[in-house]
Amino acid sequence: MALDINQWLAKNTVDLRGRVVVITGATGGLGRHVVRDLIQANAKIIMLERNMQMMQDFTQQLLQEFPNAEIESIQIDLNQIQSVDAAVAQLITRRIDYLILNAGVYNVPLTTSQFGYNNVFQINFISQYYLAKQLIPALQRTKGKVVAVTSIAHDYGRLNENDIDYTHCKKASKVYGNSKRFLTLALSELFKERDDVRLALVHPGITLTPMTNAKNRILTSLVMKMLFPKPAVAALNIVRGVFAEINYDEWIGPKTARIWGLPTVSKLPAATAEERAKIFNLAESICKVIEKTNSF
Ligand SMILES: NC(=O)c1ccc[n+]([C@@H]2O[C@H](COP(=O)([O-])OP(=O)(O)OC[C@H]3O[C@@H](n4cnc5c(N)ncnc54)[C@H](OP(=O)(O)O)[C@@H]3O)[C@@H](O)[C@H]2O)c1
Repeated sequence: MALDINQWLAKNTVDLRGRVVVITGATGGLGRHVVRDLIQANAKIIMLERNMQMMQDFTQQLLQEFPNAEIESIQIDLNQIQSVDAAVAQLITRRIDYLILNAGVYNVPLTTSQFGYNNVFQINFISQYYLAKQLIPALQRTKGKVVAVTSIAHDYGRLNENDIDYTHCKKASKVYGNSKRFLTLALSELFKERDDVRLALVHPGITLTPMTNAKNRILTSLVMKMLFPKPAVAALNIVRGVFAEINYDEWIGPKTARIWGLPTVSKLPAATAEERAKIFNLAESICKVIEKTNSF
């Protein structure tokens, strides 16, 4: 039986009037659904995206659908740390109840960021970990929450101290999976002891969006469309992260084989305490380098 999304939302969300949601990747395949679902719950949305025009066009669409929606746009390029800092400067004194780290890249040509890591690692992990860390003071004021969108591909990564960002491994799924593993484990350690800001790790399973839409492979895309849940359904896993409280060693994702079915809380795939600690220490030392660079 097809899932009735509106019924699911009515059952699994509460009114967010007066609450502010900041979301990266807001105009992406999943981001658009999350934004719509949270506007329906009366949240105020601040979209963080690199493309201002896309945000303006999406805002116009949303206002036609929801004339009373409160929507703002702030430009951010997660591959440029100065751009992340500029966004933080605009946000740090504002009310933030939820920060959704949803932006991501997969299978893009690799370049090297200013800190020497590849762009997938920089965008998916470093910049969004850094963004969450910088916005902790704002989130503390509301006892807020970070919702981080990770992936089952995080199973493809294992800390390799000789190739931290997997640049030398070259396989797109591994480069991507490794960046998500860093995001997952570093954030989970960062928020482990905190009770003033909460964390929900979520993953959407697999769904056809611009990220997974293999260009020039129409058949693959068609098969994906038939086999996997629609983006509107996959996005519910992210929405669930806003409302459900989960433990340090859990995440939210589709119930069946981690791909199909309703959002469900389950145990995070195992990682050793040693790997967790090393990834967290690396994340912290990268942030220190960024902060030091910024102070010059
Ligand atoms: N689709 C899946 O099957 C799947 C599976 C597991 C996890 N996920 C995760 O779900 C999240 C959403 O992905 P999606 O499927 O919705 O993909 P998508 O449609 O490609 O959306 C990705 C979003 O990230 C933004 N982004 C990329 N690079 C950026 C940068 N340098 N600075 C700022 N924003 C940037 C994109 O903006 P532009 O439009 O400007 O590129 C886009 O809005 C990602 O974290 C992804 O890893 C997706």
